[in-house]
Amino acid sequence: MPGNRSLNVDFCRSFFPTLNDDWAFLENAGGTYVPTTVIERLTDYMRFNQVQPGAGFEASAEASDRMAAGRACAAALINAEPDEIAIGPSTTANVYVLAHGLRPWFAPGDEVIVTDQDHEANNGAWRRLSEIGVTVREWRLRPETSELHIEDLDALLTERTRLVCFTGCSNIVGTLYDVAEITRRVHAAGALVCADGVAWTPHRRIDVKALDVDFFLYSLYKVYGPHIAVLYGKGEHLRRAENQNHHFVADDPTLKLNPGGPNHELTAASAGIGAYFDRLYDHHFRSDNKGLGERISRIYELIGSHEDALSQPLAAYLGDHTNVRLYGRATGDGKQRVAVFSFTVEGRDSREVAQALNDRGLAVRAGDFYTSRCVDALGARPQNGVIRASMCHYNSVAEIGRLIEALDAVI
Ligand SMILES: Cc1ncc(COP(=O)(O)O)c(C=O)c1O
Repeated sequence: MPGNRSLNVDFCRSFFPTLNDDWAFLENAGGTYVPTTVIERLTDYMRFNQVQPGAGFEASAEASDRMAAGRACAAALINAEPDEIAIGPSTTANVYVLAHGLRPWFAPGDEVIVTDQDHEANNGAWRRLSEIGVTVREWRLRPETSELHIEDLDALLTERTRLVCFTGCSNIVGTLYDVAEITRRVHAAGALVCADGVAWTPHRRIDVKALDVDFFLYSLYKVYGPHIAVLYGKGEHLRRAENQNHHFVADDPTLKLNPGGPNHELTAASAGIGAYFDRLYDHHFRSDNKGLGERISRIYELIGSHEDALSQPLAAYLGDHTNVRLYGRATGDGKQRVAVFSFTVEGRDSREVAQALNDRGLAVRAGDFYTSRCVDALGARPQNGVIRASMCHYNSVAEIGRLIEALDAVI
């Protein structure tokens, strides 16, 4: 059982050529590094298969197979079917297209709820529905906890609510929300949900079926993959959405919300994420015939435990430091949060603190991370945003020690 095992971080790191330097890379919420299994698939595709897929000749047929493998992996990561996802250039672009595809669903006076905690990707495109007479309501975080509270959502739901767009995990405060429960309440009110899983998917096994979400977003480049993103939708919704692509692909759920279609080589390379998980599985468990979904789940259990071990000392340090304001929970408990920590230091410009950490070999960043409404609501704008340290499974406990030591010298 996973409980008897712990993640072999050195083995994980051996797949990431970029990690072989003296930097402690702690900006993973901005985008993770990619393992060799992804890099190899990308170069192989470009070397041997950079032709239009779908024809009968060998290079083209193989291109189709490689892309199908990437799509299958991107779907398996969230327990979706390959024909329930569109693979677009980014989550921002995917939501923009989705919001256009759903416009005919709204009548003037209908209501959409967005949050002030979400990244702008799951925000601005929905707010623009006001152009067609939709009323946009805002589910606001509470500054005293830095979090969204489900009771506040209850008060916003009305009989005119059609859609609630919210984050499953904040890319700023790292809080994990009870997406299944939020979805249940929204459905009970007769509305649909669009859940942002971009900051969540790198850290926890996602099962869109169990969550019962209507739409789900994640970006493969934050999950050890190439710079593309996945839009999941329930089949019934994808069928009903208005086609945003060529008229002759209107019935293809994988293409209708993806004008231009998926990037070929990056889609193919995404299969390397599954190959990486496979290698981790074979290393930590015995090689067996378990399906990719099961293998992914068990690896995520190891990832979760290891990330908790990274979070615990940092949460304790930031939570105890009198000059520091930590946004979100001062805990390493993986049921409550992921290993993404944002904070400000009293009287200090966050960019200056981040630079001082950079100068000590710690790759962190300051700013609003395109989550400007949240940073404003937290009151961190005057300090030029928050300092964010975001870890993932390939980070070591020693790197957290380095961060704490550097913080001690800098703040
Ligand atoms: C929580 C969250 N949602 C959405 C996005 C946007 O993703 P993309 O860059 O793929 O548009 C990000 C990117 O940082 C994010 O952190």
